[in-house]
Amino acid sequence: MNTEREKYILALDLGTSVTSAMVFNHAGEIFSHASKEFEQFFPKPGWIEQDAEELWFSIVSVAQVALRKVGLTGSDLAGIGITNQRETTILWNKESGKPVGNAIVWQDRRTSRICDQLKDKGLQEKIKSKTGLEIDAYFSATKIMWLLDHNAEARELADQEKLAFGTVDSWVLWKFTKGACHYTDVSNASRTMLFNINTLTWDEELLELLNIPSSILPEVRSSSEIYARTHPSIFGCDVPIASLIGDQQAALFGQQCFERGTVKNTYNTGCFILMNTGKDPIFSNHKLITTIAWQIGDEVTYALEGSVFNAGTVIQWLRDVLNLIDSLDEVEELAKSEKDNGGVFIVPSFTGLGAPYWDQYARGTFWGLNMGTTPGHLARAALESIAMRSADVIKAMEADLEMEIPEVRVGGTILNDTMLQFQSDILNLPVVQPVRIEMTLLGAAYLAGLAVGFWKNKEELQSQYKVAKQFKCLADPKDVDHVLKYWNRAVNSSLAWLDPMD
Ligand code: G3P
Repeated sequence: MNTEREKYILALDLGTSVTSAMVFNHAGEIFSHASKEFEQFFPKPGWIEQDAEELWFSIVSVAQVALRKVGLTGSDLAGIGITNQRETTILWNKESGKPVGNAIVWQDRRTSRICDQLKDKGLQEKIKSKTGLEIDAYFSATKIMWLLDHNAEARELADQEKLAFGTVDSWVLWKFTKGACHYTDVSNASRTMLFNINTLTWDEELLELLNIPSSILPEVRSSSEIYARTHPSIFGCDVPIASLIGDQQAALFGQQCFERGTVKNTYNTGCFILMNTGKDPIFSNHKLITTIAWQIGDEVTYALEGSVFNAGTVIQWLRDVLNLIDSLDEVEELAKSEKDNGGVFIVPSFTGLGAPYWDQYARGTFWGLNMGTTPGHLARAALESIAMRSADVIKAMEADLEMEIPEVRVGGTILNDTMLQFQSDILNLPVVQPVRIEMTLLGAAYLAGLAVGFWKNKEELQSQYKVAKQFKCLADPKDVDHVLKYWNRAVNSSLAWLDPMD
């Protein structure tokens, strides 16, 4: 029989495009890893859906592969941590366990008009003070409203109190426990636009205003506790599920941003910049959102967040639509074929612009194309656009807190030196890349490990954080001002591009 220390933690990440499983040992090292892309559906422009059953099968299959690769079974696991793309909305039948329609993905824009109507009713201030969020199609609430209005089965099941709503964490917890648990954690609940982040309860007034029945909602729990054990049919024995946490909050934890004022940015499908603001929610004057980072025991930690909806998607678009590269890794080499962007700017607002603009009708733009524009210029402009959008958010954070941020810790799957050097140049602050960049999975593993006693406390984790690279500003301030001037022009041109009535 293994002692607890010889066991492992399995972290599962249900991301936007990929599901991943990672097995960590007590030193926080990756012992095994498996991942898989899954299908996205685009039924209409601006609509993005996923098949909830496929998500479930894919996470189980990557978990089993990761264990099998290194000869482990469920009995070698001390616990499981689950982290996920947030806001994505799934409805299912509580009796049959079957999803009702496809999941509506966080990037989906179909509910923009519902959001306009809520703004027209003057609800922005109320919603912000209760939930910390801007009214936007990004969050789950209007996606639930849309499903209840457009899917007759959903409405009927809701009327009979047989309908369940969940973000992806709730859905997989339900599946892992064969319907025994319908829970979420505070970090995921705080992304729904229905959860009161001051009282830590579903907000009755908002539920009534939005006409969403409370019977569909999961019970809200902390981010680090044993919620349940997996059904024995899945891993051959029951394994404790010991953390549920939204992926960006997990990355904040994995980056060990435990102190107030520490900041991380994760570069994946989108970029999400979060600052730990400690025990009190800070409400932004610069259009950032207030969110719950995590809850451990009774202690709740809050964060300020700026969400950039498109980052890796810009590089995917260079690969899949323009065919300029064969793989995402090649973008840096292509960018390095030119010494600068040749005056080309891309604003990556494929699905609107998030913080600090919150424009649902912005769309992507290219500026400065000329007969001398090369693929290298486009690649450089793409990388710079990701860093520029992140800089927009980090500057808003500094303005909110009236302080300079000391450093930004970075992780994610699309990192490269060219982009990170530019990030440091444009912000004039250090960008720190740790040895391990899979911080989302590590954060979920840490929270699960703390719940089951695999790790004693946060202090024990500190020696596991190792810096691989640090980027410092090398740019001439005059060049930075020049870039910012053109960037702001380009952003302004992409705003309100679509007519809401079209
Ligand atoms: O809020 C959306 C976010 O959770 C998605 O993260 O890493 O899948 O782009 P990612």
